[in-house]
Amino acid sequence: MIFDLQNLSTPEKQYYLQHCIAPRPICFASTIDKAGNVNLSPFSFFNLFSSNPPIVVFSPSRRGRDNTTKHSYQNVLEVPEVVINIVDYDMVQQVSLSSCEFPKEVNEFSKAGFTEEPATLVKPPMVKESKVKLECKVLEVKPLGTEGGAGNLVICEVMRMHIDDSLLDANKKMDQRKLNLVARLGGDWYCVVNENNLFQVEKPNTQLGIGIDALPLSVRNSKILSGNNLGQLGNVHEYPIIDPAYDDGHMKQIIQYFSVSPDEMEKELHLHAKKLLELGKVREAWQVLLAGN
Ligand SMILES: Cc1cc2nc3c(=O)[nH]c(=O)nc-3n(C[C@H](O)[C@H](O)[C@H](O)COP(=O)(O)O)c2cc1C
Repeated sequence: MIFDLQNLSTPEKQYYLQHCIAPRPICFASTIDKAGNVNLSPFSFFNLFSSNPPIVVFSPSRRGRDNTTKHSYQNVLEVPEVVINIVDYDMVQQVSLSSCEFPKEVNEFSKAGFTEEPATLVKPPMVKESKVKLECKVLEVKPLGTEGGAGNLVICEVMRMHIDDSLLDANKKMDQRKLNLVARLGGDWYCVVNENNLFQVEKPNTQLGIGIDALPLSVRNSKILSGNNLGQLGNVHEYPIIDPAYDDGHMKQIIQYFSVSPDEMEKELHLHAKKLLELGKVREAWQVLLAGN
């Protein structure tokens, strides 16, 4: 299917965009109006856009239903400060409750059962229960349209971060597994980022990878190796050469057993290399593949 966005209704646009542009981190924004009324609401149109200066942006939209604006948006226009509290799994049901459209004078801290903790640089309070809080000043509010569903970019500079000691080790380093971050997807779907779904991809550093276009044709056109496998192989910095000291019993067996059937041999070597790549053993996988060439 091809969808032209201009032919979709606002709820349809939202539906497809939010399912596909996901998961989105959640900004749990604490704001305040001139009269001192506090507001607390979640926004998943949110991300980090710059480290220096440290800039995050979230977007309270105009309501699709009646084109009215949200209290958080009105507040940052009155008092250009916000505390962005980061949402973890332990908070998610209360966060969802706080997104109800309570009247402006209602403080969602009370409604959703969170504790106000004074911020140190800005007027809106922090959420005590949140393990990471960003004290921000609002640099600019940029409306993206005037119709229902139009976002309003709230461009924030992070002045101070509060990170719970439990998330830091003795060297002040963070363990991603400990954050239990929650993110929003389409409709009612959320996800939690924990040990079961985290994985690492080694960062290509200053050295260039040789690239998939440099792989032997038989490897590039393999019916067994996946795009991820080829990505790992193409990420080495130098084209590997056969290492005579590489000792791999299973590889030797394949070569002996299938010596009369080159196609079968290639298939078996690719299967073996694939298993090695899935264990992160790129050097070994290369040796297996070079043996078949
Ligand atoms: C997890 C979550 C994420 C949300 N993300 C957004 C968003 O990015 N933009 C938006 O306008 N509304 C979003 N909402 C809905 C607002 O939180 C909701 O409209 C809220 O009532 C706004 O509160 P306010 O009028 O007090 O600012 C989200 C709701 C939830 C539960």
